[in-house]
Amino acid sequence: MAKQVSIAVVGSGYVGLVAAACFAEMGHRVICVDNDDAKVTMLREGGIPIHEEYLPQLLGKQRQNMVEFTTDLRAATQAAEAIFIAVGTPQSRAGSADLSFVDAVASEIARSIDSYKVIVEKSTVPVYTNEWIRRVIERNGVPKDMFDVTSNPEFLREGTAVVDFLHADRIVIGTATERAAEVLRRIYEPLTSGEYYRSGSAVPGPRGEDDPPPILQTSTKAAEIIKHASNAFLATKISFINIVANICEAAGADVEEVARGMGMDTRIGPKFLRAGIGYGGSCFPKDVAAFRHVAEQVGVEFGLLQEVEKINEEQKLRFFQKVRSALWTFRGKKIGVLGLAFKGGTDDIRESPALDIVQRLLHEGCIVSAYDPAAEQRAKDVIPSSKQMIYVADPYAAAQDADALLILNDWREFAELDFKRLHHTLRYPIIIDGRNMFDPTTMSSLGFTYLSVGRPGSSQPQDPIPTYYLPRQREAAKR
Ligand code: UDX
Repeated sequence: MAKQVSIAVVGSGYVGLVAAACFAEMGHRVICVDNDDAKVTMLREGGIPIHEEYLPQLLGKQRQNMVEFTTDLRAATQAAEAIFIAVGTPQSRAGSADLSFVDAVASEIARSIDSYKVIVEKSTVPVYTNEWIRRVIERNGVPKDMFDVTSNPEFLREGTAVVDFLHADRIVIGTATERAAEVLRRIYEPLTSGEYYRSGSAVPGPRGEDDPPPILQTSTKAAEIIKHASNAFLATKISFINIVANICEAAGADVEEVARGMGMDTRIGPKFLRAGIGYGGSCFPKDVAAFRHVAEQVGVEFGLLQEVEKINEEQKLRFFQKVRSALWTFRGKKIGVLGLAFKGGTDDIRESPALDIVQRLLHEGCIVSAYDPAAEQRAKDVIPSSKQMIYVADPYAAAQDADALLILNDWREFAELDFKRLHHTLRYPIIIDGRNMFDPTTMSSLGFTYLSVGRPGSSQPQDPIPTYYLPRQREAAKR
């Protein structure tokens, strides 16, 4: 077996927890640190604060053995050879990343260092953060040869984070010294050598013994930019296809066919070309804004990203208007909603386009009955249950006597709905699909009025979207 490394992971949010579980799965000893007492107690007792496939199995297997949880950053720093910083970098009021948690952790690490440490940025941070962490540690009196600061960005999608980690497309390590690079290479060796995939109990995924993930070694600044640029590029791809969808809708073409045709060009690729109601989540909105700020700070105008954000905002409003055009008026109408999380497969509702649309419907006086396989509890924190907002336990209950059914995220189970039953359950057989889950011809042969995004018949032709509508709505949304 490759040599074991003792690792501390600071921050047991979604990135930190997945990284800790996966490092342990790869054979390393991991101490996971968080300053939230209640969370650490919960994790020690076997609780898992996020909905993530394979995480319960990995933590179940490794807890008490290869992973421990603590609030003691000092002890964890001293026990570890590599310390991964995976604390939050929320969006500040100005749109840039708020690095105060990273700063606080760096100072605390500096006060605890007693031997050479590799400090690794895992959180998404703007370029130059590496330099800042180094400065903070030096200011605390730590000699230069006692530590290195490196960058090892994550590219994990929520819901598939464990597979994304253990079967990575690439592992980026940004370092300025060979000493630190050697430690990072050793950490990832079980994956890069293919050894992990030989074990009978490996988490299944696209990688294998003969096709292990490559390591890309870069400067620390390049690694920091790779992360921001990758997310900004993916968000751009989504906004691009959404605008193409709007053109398709107006021209009477099918955006699914267009995306297929574009995606067959290997230079473009088929992924992230699914038109819909826009992107959300904890990463894309925040990272697009942060990267725009980074560009501004270094004196580069990146108007493209502003446009990406604008298109994303308008896409939700367009969908909302599509619902309006199908129902004519809103007040008192009952709308069934499938999906509240920002995408299927997760309980995360941060920046969820689905919640945005639900809030608009409620504001217009609709009664919403909503179902999401995992996000109900989190959604209730933002929109409490009431006479107007009813949370239900299955898709058919959401559709019961509704004037229309909206599909707002892409949970796999929505693809297996019993349409005959839905048809009987709905008051009017209208389905408005913000994720293009179904085939329009099949849906209309089943007797539904089916509206989706960027496909022929996607909106009511007699009721085009007035051009004055979008900017006005945008102003209203800002208020
Ligand atoms: C993303 C990145 O994919 C990941 O690499 C990074 O580390 C964190 O941010 P995540 O936020 O989990 O991951 O979600 P992702 O699956 O990328 O989807 C983001 C949003 O884009 C979702 O709202 C999704 O519904 C939307 N999306 C995605 C589309 O609208 N169309 C697509 O084709 C793909």
